[in-house]
Parts: sequence; C-alpha cells; structure tokens
Amino acid sequence: MLELTSLEGSRETFEAALEFAQKQVKATAERDPGFYPMYTEKGRWRHGKPAWTHWCDGFLPGMMWIFAKRTGSEAWVDLARKYTEPLEPRKMDREVHDLGFIFLSTYHRWYKLTDRQDLNDIVIQAGRTLALRFKEKGQYMSSFMGPESVFIDIMANVGVIFYAALETGDSGLMDVAMRHSLTSGRVLVRGDGSTSHEGIYDLETGEFLRQSTQQGWRSDSCWARGLAWAIYGFTAAYKFTRDARFLRTAELCADYFLLNVPKNGVAPMDFDAPASDTREETSASAITAAGLLRLASLTADPAKGLLYDQAARRVLLTLCQPPYLASETHGWEGILKEGIYHLNLGLGVGESVMWGEYFFVEALDRALGEE
Ligand code: GLY
Repeated sequence: MLELTSLEGSRETFEAALEFAQKQVKATAERDPGFYPMYTEKGRWRHGKPAWTHWCDGFLPGMMWIFAKRTGSEAWVDLARKYTEPLEPRKMDREVHDLGFIFLSTYHRWYKLTDRQDLNDIVIQAGRTLALRFKEKGQYMSSFMGPESVFIDIMANVGVIFYAALETGDSGLMDVAMRHSLTSGRVLVRGDGSTSHEGIYDLETGEFLRQSTQQGWRSDSCWARGLAWAIYGFTAAYKFTRDARFLRTAELCADYFLLNVPKNGVAPMDFDAPASDTREETSASAITAAGLLRLASLTADPAKGLLYDQAARRVLLTLCQPPYLASETHGWEGILKEGIYHLNLGLGVGESVMWGEYFFVEALDRALGEE
C-alpha cells in the first residue's frame, strides 16, 4: 500500500526534475537530430532493437511543447515544431490504435499555444481515423494485433475521439467513444479495480470470449501499465463527458493502485507477478501520477480528491530521486530509469521508455500548476 509522506520541499524537487528533463531532451535532440527514440538499451536511445509497434513518435515533441509552454522559449517552440510537423500524415494511419498518444501530445498542445484552426483540424482528423477501428459486433475499437483484440491501452487514446466529437458536434464520433469506453469498463476492468491488458472477441457473433495479455504476466493478471492507462483514460473519459460511470471506474482502478503498489509508489511490472520477481516499472507510476492529479480535481468527494493529489505527489517525489531519476547516472540518455516496455519479447527491460518520460513531465507540469 502506498505510504503518504511529508511533501515539504516537493515543489523545488519537481522544478529540479523538470530542469533535468529539459537538459536530457535537449541533449537527445542535439545528439541525434530528427530521431524519435522509443526505449533505451543500456541507457542509450539509438540501438537496432525492434519497435514491436509504431506508437511513440508524439512523446518527444510532446515534452518539447510542455517545456515551450512553461518557459515561453522560442527555441523550444522551434524544436517542437520540427519534430511535430513530420507526424501530420499519421492523422490517416489506420495501422495503430495510438493516435491519441501521437496527436494529443503534439498538435493539440501546439493548437492550445496558438489557437490556429488548421492545427486543431489535424487533431480532429486523427480522432476520425481512430474511430474507424470500431467494431459494431462487440462494440469496441480493435488493437493493432487484429480485429478480434481490444487493449486497455486504447482507453488512453480514446480521448482524441471524445475531443473531436466535442469540437465538431459529431454525435457519431461521440457514440463510438462512449461505446468503446463502456465496453472496456465492462470486459477489461475487474470488480476489484484490477485490469486485463487485452480482450478477445468472436468476430462472427461479437461475443466476448476471454481476457488475455501481450505484455503482462498472464491473462488473469494486472499488468501495471495497463492499470495506469485505465486510470488515465477513464479519468479523461469522465472529463470529456461527465458520465459518472467513467468516474466510478477511474476511482476503482486508482484505489486498486493505491492499495497494491509498494509503499514508495513504484509499480511492479505486474501486480500479480510472483514475489520473487522484483522488477519495477516506473512508467506505470508516472502515467498513474498524471492521471491521479487530474482525477483529484474531478472527483466529487473532497477527501478522495485530497488523497489522490497527495498520492500522486508522493509517487512523483519517489521518481524524482535516484535510483529512478537518471540525474546521477553518468552517460544515461533518458530521464527516468527502470521502465519496462515488453518483458515477454525482451524489449526495453530496466530502461528509459519514451512514454514514461512524457507522462513524468506531464505529471510534473500538472503538479506545478498546469491545470
Ligand atoms: N502497448 C503500449 C504499451 O507498451 O504500453
């Protein structure tokens, strides 16, 4: 169970971590201009290992937009633009279920800084494209694995469809986002608030067949990053719709995290992994911190709101120190160590992962007063 501690001095700690994050991102862009890293290998972003799926290109420019907003620096705006513009064609990408990750972190942040409608139109198109994954039989958007597969990760992307629906007044888009989110809550979130990574459907009948996993311990376990995507995603679904069912699901998942995470707030790779497996997964904690900070401001119960806020800051305080922050690891190119991409495929295990970096920076930004 998470142990709450004093938050004295936390503001300075968060500011120092953001400074370090800027230093690392700047060095990455200078070392390897135009490269979109995904996960490190022994602390280095450039290596020949596979991507598995192509979902991370928004996260590096996404951090740059956060730095641009916080500092007002034209240099960050220029760099963020350079890394964002090549992503535009992906607004039509039907190969991945990750268009929320790619466009909410980049074009949407750029739009918020400028109010340019052409940028907003790109985000809206990304939402329209993602919605094309919807399966009427089964009522879900399929994952990149195939039409029979739904991932909990898609909950962290469905926000781009809710956004596009609200911007355009398109009730068809709203319907897709609602039905996918309700289905995910029903088949991927369990009664105790734990989550399944994947669900498998019968394509002929639309019958839900079973829970499954790609990156977790096993099909009935709770892969920590999947839980984090659920906390983040159902909170966002509630923010867009104010539908109390999404708030209830977000809180159920958040409470599971707080009850089951070790006291320092660093998630295990999977909450059901055997005790002998001591691997940690910092990106799940960073995503959860970003989600909890938003949930804290939305929850109806002030006591719960305070708990989520304090819990998120406690998790961030842990992540802001070595051995998790890379500030004292000479030559390490990432910000946050001890993330895991795909244990079963042996990719990015005990490394920095680009989504961990992004959501860590987003959470720090939020903790320092973004919303
Ligand atoms: N499949 C996306 C992730 O690794 O969280």
